[in-house]
Amino acid sequence: MDSPDATEDATATALNTPPGGADDDVRALEALRQHHAGMLKRLGALAAALSGAVMAGNAVAEHDAHEVLVEWCETDLVPHALAEEGRLYEGAGRTPEARLLVTALVAEHQGIAGMIEQLRGSRGVDAAVAAGALRALVAMHLQTEDQILLPFLAGHPDLSLASAVEGLEELVGESHIHGGGADRGSSV
Ligand SMILES: [Fe+2]
Ligand SMILES: [Fe+2]
Repeated sequence: MDSPDATEDATATALNTPPGGADDDVRALEALRQHHAGMLKRLGALAAALSGAVMAGNAVAEHDAHEVLVEWCETDLVPHALAEEGRLYEGAGRTPEARLLVTALVAEHQGIAGMIEQLRGSRGVDAAVAAGALRALVAMHLQTEDQILLPFLAGHPDLSLASAVEGLEELVGESHIHGGGADRGSSV
């Protein structure tokens, strides 16, 4: 007999499954959403650590938290955005239905990059504010991708979400690429 959790998972999966999407595309969609959730969780934790250190007036902890957050942006967030623009956005951008959406998402990437630069150059309360703003920007951006772009790609008869993410660790995480199923945020 299914546990309540299993039933909830099955219901959620059914609701999130785009009509007409191939199994591989549905798996890729779930892997990307889970990778996004892991990224946002990690970003939230790093931003909170920086804010906490600033509020506590702990200069050493602030320096360390600032360094870790900027490094994570450089090694995880920015590569993810660049990989998306090369593979996910390119296909969607060629369709009349999603062209404007892709233009807006690229503009959001640029806004996120600008906020990273602001964070890099700021200290103290300014850095804490920049970290909070970065988290908010990324949260809104990921929600648009999860709720609009990914279902569109997975359900489009001429586009393959699965082949777009194939081999791209930056997009879906290592475990999906190496056949371990959807990424559970293991990289963060
Ligand atoms: Fe993105
Ligand atoms: Fe993304």
